[in-house]
Amino acid sequence: MNLYKFVSDAINEKLGVTVNLETPRNRDFGDFATNAAMVMAKSAGKNPRELAGDISTQIAELPFVSETSVAGPGFINIKLRDDFIWNAAATATDVAPVTKPLVLDLDYGAYNVAKSLHIGHMRTSIVGDTFNRIARFLGHRSFSWNHMGDWGKPMALVIAWIERLYPDLPYFQPDFDPSMTVDFDIDPSELNSFYPAASSYAKENPEFQAHAQKIKAEFQKGHPGYFALYEKFLAISLNMMNNTVRRLNIVPFDYDLGERNAAQYLPQVEEILREKNLIQESDGAQVIVVKKESDTAPMPPYMWTDSRGADTYDSTDLATVYCRKKTDNPDKIIYFTDMRQSLHFEQLFRAADLSGIFAYENFEHIGYGTINGSDGRPFKTRDGNAAGLDDIIDTVNAAVERRITESGKNLPQDTVDMIALAALKFNDLLHDIRSDYVFDPDAVTSFEGRTGPYVLYTAVRMNSILRRAGDIPPMSDIPTTLVPDERNLLMEIADFERTVQSAFDNRAPDIVANYAYDLCQLVNTFYHNCPILRDDVSAQDRTRRLGIVAMATQTLTCAIDLMGLRVPDEM
Ligand code: ARG
Repeated sequence: MNLYKFVSDAINEKLGVTVNLETPRNRDFGDFATNAAMVMAKSAGKNPRELAGDISTQIAELPFVSETSVAGPGFINIKLRDDFIWNAAATATDVAPVTKPLVLDLDYGAYNVAKSLHIGHMRTSIVGDTFNRIARFLGHRSFSWNHMGDWGKPMALVIAWIERLYPDLPYFQPDFDPSMTVDFDIDPSELNSFYPAASSYAKENPEFQAHAQKIKAEFQKGHPGYFALYEKFLAISLNMMNNTVRRLNIVPFDYDLGERNAAQYLPQVEEILREKNLIQESDGAQVIVVKKESDTAPMPPYMWTDSRGADTYDSTDLATVYCRKKTDNPDKIIYFTDMRQSLHFEQLFRAADLSGIFAYENFEHIGYGTINGSDGRPFKTRDGNAAGLDDIIDTVNAAVERRITESGKNLPQDTVDMIALAALKFNDLLHDIRSDYVFDPDAVTSFEGRTGPYVLYTAVRMNSILRRAGDIPPMSDIPTTLVPDERNLLMEIADFERTVQSAFDNRAPDIVANYAYDLCQLVNTFYHNCPILRDDVSAQDRTRRLGIVAMATQTLTCAIDLMGLRVPDEM
């Protein structure tokens, strides 16, 4: 149940106007407050305090309100009945599916074939996955697309490099027959080394560079040998991607389809573009002009083919939109990438809109900020390279292991993995997507403060209380009087649905992460001040408090699931 919406709707209905309802941090005076009287007094030509008195009396008549009061120049404070709060908390996670579910195509992850996953793929994976989980939880139909980079220069460079290392392989012979089996294996870590090696070699060797260009053109035209070789390293790459996806506990992608898949739609899209006269020639390249008169910032044309006639990142992205329209017919397509790609997406959205393939207003680009090291510069490994995603996970695991050893505990490997997962993902989710953040493996693994381990630890603690308590005896009645710590916690629990809804509406998974932290803090304050299993606690208090722990656990578990974390049995 969405407590806020329930109360707000009831008050609006009672008063016959839409009022602005606030939830004060400090609940000493009320659970909700409104400045409605001050707003309405002006147009009604009335004294705000007097009007507040009238409204306050009306609101007090609502069955779930225990008392109202007027404060200051005309603020109205509203206190809810304790039994009502109890019931709201008890149904906090019973979220009714949205009445108008949206079909959403979510583009995140978007890893590159034959290139290892790196830090640049971390936020897109974590934030995209959590957004996907939130959308589904609310009842939307979302499809996750791993738009793989598998059609461009890196493929050609890797093929050229393999040719340089093993020139006698049949893939490079003119009489290559795709039906033959080739006895050639690539070791995954070896594959990861090919692209950087080829790329730096190409910089010094124009001939090699030119050869790679030729390979790219032939590969895109369907050269059977190159294609067979590509299939070989595609399989290895997909394996590596899936392995990282598993390690990050990300829901498997609905589609591992990228640029190469899109390429098959290029002729159809080109026909549409030509029909609308949208393709122009510019310095040997084919481009779509997406600039508008009103533009104040530079808006370069969208590249349909480059000056060598090759397909581009731009053209395959537009063809992907066409493919998605045909496949899922989404209401919206949402991209989660680095903010530095904003211009590309603005161009894409305009090109798709001009061509009539997909309307501008149904696109969204969620651009995220940079992950920095403690020095405030983009996070690098010790040797100065962009950190690999697997290395980052390993680093966090090592930091967790160190902490556990220091505390003299001995936890199973699976538990260490779960703590590390929580440390990494929670920290990523905690920050506003658009802002940069500092990634410090030691800080994120702390068991105290706004961290994943703290959230997990709270969940583990609650689970253990419930386990120790055994079967909770049923309560004879819904409690009608709660102490402040109980009340505060229940109010937070009852705010769950609104939180998830607002995280979805604002495309802001950080709202869920921060909620989880706030909930944990209230859980721990409650637990500290309200003993449960101690001998001197009355049966009635114990039953009530166990009920609260059960609700808190249920809600926290839901939030933890939305973030894709895993909770160990002990910590
Ligand atoms: N593969 C690209 C990268 O690794 C990101 C692709 C994002 N999605 C898209 N549809 N362009 O940077």
